[in-house]
Amino acid sequence: MNRSETAMSFFQNAPSLERLVYTSTVPEPLGTVDLFNILNQARQKNAIHGITGHLLYADGKFTQCIEGPPAAVERLWQSLLKDPRHAMFQVLERGPTDARRFAEWSMAFSSYRYLNAFNMPGFFPLDANGQSEKSVLMQK
Ligand SMILES: Cc1cc2nc3c(=O)[nH]c(=O)nc-3n(C[C@H](O)[C@H](O)[C@H](O)COP(=O)(O)O)c2cc1C
Repeated sequence: MNRSETAMSFFQNAPSLERLVYTSTVPEPLGTVDLFNILNQARQKNAIHGITGHLLYADGKFTQCIEGPPAAVERLWQSLLKDPRHAMFQVLERGPTDARRFAEWSMAFSSYRYLNAFNMPGFFPLDANGQSEKSVLMQK
């Protein structure tokens, strides 16, 4: 392979899709309005940047899956780390992927039914095990 073929092969094989799943803890309990605002802002920005995913809020903890072009995932990750609404981050999974798990959601959301007072679209209520039909898809 000559130099330009090597470069071409690098770009063809470069991952175009990345997934990051993390957990974080909230310093203070969040209410319906706080969560509604986070989701609204997230969905608007994610639609622009090609990010899809899922956010779970239960027991004072977030678990979020973000998937999209690697540069967009990294940009969002840096914003998330600086956001004072949550802390104590733990990355559960990060790496290239072939397919999105939440292709149809700019950010699906699972939480307790009572936290959906605004009837948000893309809301999935938690069952007795603290999971929803969508939140289970975040697990490997
Ligand atoms: C739990 C949680 C999840 C969030 N998810 C997203 C998201 O999916 N997309 C997004 O753009 N912002 C999300 N945000 C907001 C970002 O942390 C950040 O405030 C926003 O992207 C604006 O960042 P900037 O000021 O660096 O542009 C989330 C915030 C929290 C607390």
